[in-house]
Amino acid sequence: MVMTSSPHPPDVGGRPDPTAEPGGESAPARGYLLDNARAEAGERFVWLAELFDGVTRAHFDRLGVRAGSRCWEVGAGGRSIPEALAATVGPTGHVLATDIDPSWLEAGEGYEVRRHDVAADPPPEPGTFDLVHARLVLVHVPDRERALATMVAALRPGGWLLVEDADTALQPLACLDDSGPAQRRANRLRDAVRELLARRGADLRYGRTLPRALREAGLVDVAAAGSFPVGGPACDRLEAATIRHVRGELLAAGLTDDAEIDAHLAAIHAGELDLTLAPLISAWGRRPAEHAPTPG
Ligand SMILES: C[S@@+](CC[C@H](N)C(=O)[O-])C[C@H]1O[C@@H](n2cnc3c(N)ncnc32)[C@H](O)[C@@H]1O
Repeated sequence: MVMTSSPHPPDVGGRPDPTAEPGGESAPARGYLLDNARAEAGERFVWLAELFDGVTRAHFDRLGVRAGSRCWEVGAGGRSIPEALAATVGPTGHVLATDIDPSWLEAGEGYEVRRHDVAADPPPEPGTFDLVHARLVLVHVPDRERALATMVAALRPGGWLLVEDADTALQPLACLDDSGPAQRRANRLRDAVRELLARRGADLRYGRTLPRALREAGLVDVAAAGSFPVGGPACDRLEAATIRHVRGELLAAGLTDDAEIDAHLAAIHAGELDLTLAPLISAWGRRPAEHAPTPG
């Protein structure tokens, strides 16, 4: 299905409070925590692009994406990577951008948009892609093994899979320089957000497992690299959007209070925190080329 929905969905407000039912056991919230229905998701895509598109695009170049390539961008979120791929592959190539919620993607910009759950739906156009890429998606998908198999099945023989995921357990701090109360509060709140992610089935150690996961999925020529920014306005703005996105969930889970969140947002605004992120591990591998059977 080709989507034509607005790239700017309205802010639908806070989630229902799963702990608010009087007298009953609360049902655990399920699904992707930082869902695309909220306006903050769109802000996050802008700052993720600012922070990581350079890294990602360098990998595309090295893996040989060029005019005429066929690419599948999985869990695309915002438009920057589909647009970059479309500009590279040109009119003789093909870019498919998919997401469980493709509201922020814009059909008709040189790439095709489909709603697709990489952990539940079959691979689109199996065996045909030169490049399949997912950034910061599988870490959130509880059935990530199945998702990986779906992406591998979409590759043509010789095609490359590039998976990029955070490893928040490798570097869990929001402030590496733990120099005062505002920095320590930022680190406490980062822990609280990680706790929410884990409750939704995120694997906070997934990044480090990627090379092995790609080999076990049958890929060859597997390698990986890691990178993360250490401070700057894009990190600040990503953090502010993330905290505003999950504010209701943090409060409902009793992991913080309004005063702590407001103080943290004010400290971010003051530019005094030097916020950082977890390392982004980028791992790539190639589907083995098919060889003609040897006669006799
Ligand atoms: C953290 S965002 C990353 C977006 C983008 N890849 C980037 O790096 O900026 C995760 C994206 O994965 C999507 N997503 C989550 N679970 C998914 C699933 N099972 N299948 C497809 N997309 C999924 C979300 O809707 C969201 O757009």
